[in-house]
Amino acid sequence: MDKPLTIAMPKGRIFEEAVTLLRMAGYKLPDEFEASRKLIINVPAENLRFILAKPTDVTTYVEHGVADAGIAGKDVMLEEERDVYEILDLKISKCRLAVAGLPQAEIGGVAPRVATKYPNVASKYFREQGEQVEIIKLNGSVELAPLVGLAERIVDIVSTGQTLKENGLVESEKICDITSRLIVNPVSYRMKDKIIEELASRLALVVEGEPVK
Ligand code: PRP
Repeated sequence: MDKPLTIAMPKGRIFEEAVTLLRMAGYKLPDEFEASRKLIINVPAENLRFILAKPTDVTTYVEHGVADAGIAGKDVMLEEERDVYEILDLKISKCRLAVAGLPQAEIGGVAPRVATKYPNVASKYFREQGEQVEIIKLNGSVELAPLVGLAERIVDIVSTGQTLKENGLVESEKICDITSRLIVNPVSYRMKDKIIEELASRLALVVEGEPVK
């Protein structure tokens, strides 16, 4: 048998949807998947090996080739521009990247400081808008920044909009829609083309709502 295909899975929000998608594609994954805290899960019956990483680290494992494939948010892909192939839009974990701030930041007009986990995406966006801003990099809970005066605006993921609402912030501009993608290491894609093509085509059927044979 070929060496198992290693897939880097994002822990957290995307994880459950990604596991459901793989199961719908016909991969028999053990229950320990959701239950355990193991970081490497072998599924010999499917010739698959999963590594469980932080969502923002999935691209790193795939780029370095220690994972052949992975599931990563488009937000991370846009921010990092890694040397990986994006071969399928899985259409899960739908959300958007948006600009938000306190309501008065809109009226005031001058809002030069922008806090975000996505400094590259934010810089590019405001450059394209012809706006000069100072980008302040944060690692999470970005919505806090306008509340305590660190920045006038934020660039962040909006999913349900609950976090913005509960913190009295308003969305002003959508930058782009985001979903999770199946990504692959370029060398793996050449060496393990058949098994990767099979994974991608089985997942594509589920994404398109076709029955998997
Ligand atoms: C994400 C995002 C927002 C929130 C949006 O944060 O950065 O804060 O979810 O979701 P909502 O629109 O459904 O409220 P996450 O929970 O991943 O944690 P973080 O802020 O620490 O990055």
